[in-house]
Amino acid sequence: MTRETWATRTGFILAAAGSAVGLGNIWRFPWMTAQNGGSAFLAVYLLVVFGVGVPGLLGEFVIGRRARRNPMGALRDLSGSRRWAAVGAVSAVTGVALLSFYSVVGGWILRYLLVSMTGPLTGGAAYLSTPGAYFETISFGFEAAAFHLLFLAITGGIVLGGVRRGIELGTKVMVPAVLVLLVGMAAWVVTQPGAGAGYQFFLGFDLTTLRENFFSILGPAAGQALFTLSVGAGTMVTYASYLGEDRSLPFDGSVIALLNTGVGVLAGLVVFPLLFSQGVDPGTGGPGALFVGIAGAFAALPGGGLLAIVFFGVVTLAALSSSISMLEIPVAVLVDEGGWSRRAAVGVLLALVAVTGTVTALRPALFDFVAGTLVDLLLTGGLLAFLLFAGWVLGRDAVAEYVSGAGPVARQLATPWLFAVGIVIPVFLVFTLLTTAGIDARVGFWPTVGVAVAAVAVVLVGLRRQATV
Ligand code: PHE
Repeated sequence: MTRETWATRTGFILAAAGSAVGLGNIWRFPWMTAQNGGSAFLAVYLLVVFGVGVPGLLGEFVIGRRARRNPMGALRDLSGSRRWAAVGAVSAVTGVALLSFYSVVGGWILRYLLVSMTGPLTGGAAYLSTPGAYFETISFGFEAAAFHLLFLAITGGIVLGGVRRGIELGTKVMVPAVLVLLVGMAAWVVTQPGAGAGYQFFLGFDLTTLRENFFSILGPAAGQALFTLSVGAGTMVTYASYLGEDRSLPFDGSVIALLNTGVGVLAGLVVFPLLFSQGVDPGTGGPGALFVGIAGAFAALPGGGLLAIVFFGVVTLAALSSSISMLEIPVAVLVDEGGWSRRAAVGVLLALVAVTGTVTALRPALFDFVAGTLVDLLLTGGLLAFLLFAGWVLGRDAVAEYVSGAGPVARQLATPWLFAVGIVIPVFLVFTLLTTAGIDARVGFWPTVGVAVAAVAVVLVGLRRQATV
């Protein structure tokens, strides 16, 4: 069977942007921003998105388009090494891990959407009178598991349709809808009394907070930047492997990152003013902050019921266009490497995630671990592997792939890019891993940098060795 490709030029951009735009922008971003100093977090996050995320995204694109295979097959084919195949196979695990918690949150969203839609019939949506208690009762347990299964089934249905008729068609509808609806909501929020404090919190740049908390902001900001761009999981390797024609990877990557950042900022422009207009403090409440705060805001607003339907509808679409990209990673591995049919691959993986997601939905502590630490580690480690591969195994071939189809500006940037993905960003990623583990607090900043540099150097020597034997 010939391998499927995207049908149209915009198909790839929309699919990849759809993967990037998701709960990361609307649910995780405001939550992380609120917990890490507001606008100071936004500043660091933007720096990491463009300084690390975009070059990283291009690293995944280069690998995927060069190999035209899933992450596992790509690393094996391009290197001829079984060890690299094993590294690539981690992507399939990452896809399952991501989906195991994402689908639970997707279930919450679906439930809020359904309750918003049936609210008028039942005398007001159930979450409106006691938002906090409502979220408490629905977030974990068997009902949460049931809604997770519903969200998972929809995800599976789209992926079953394949690259063109499923993913491409789906994201072509979902991504523009998300953009239009969010712009509309942001414009409407401006008219709300009391919204100003929200803008101030989100956009009022404050250098003191930034200076005092830079290192504690760095870890969460970096994790969030990778998560929001869908970088490090192998999704972008997989999506780029369906590129048939010579698109400019740097151009497409920049468009995707700009779209994604735009949606993140738009979501912030909707969420923070709404919360502040209701006197809700976004800093409290963990993963439920969005649900509790927004539900409270809707309760107080005239026309809030309709707004709630639009809002949760948007979030559902954004979440689905991301969850399909998580499922597509292990699906592509099974189809390419195992010779499975798409139907069988989707079926088996749905059965697997039905179980892992249900366990996650029953155990809040496990949820926190998977959604936080595990995902941060898998994405940071995964990106590290992809970039060392692009920089040191592909090397010049990576540059050739980078410039193929690219314009003059991108060509100028090819060599600096290789330097960044081969050395600078790996050191940064290792450094971030070390600060996340709290090492810098114990040994100090410069020793931590030293350890990061040394670790990358050791890996590079190992890679050189392997290449020469
Ligand atoms: N970027 C997605 C979001 O913001 C999440 C995601 C991460 C999707 C990794 C695929 C791979 O919701």
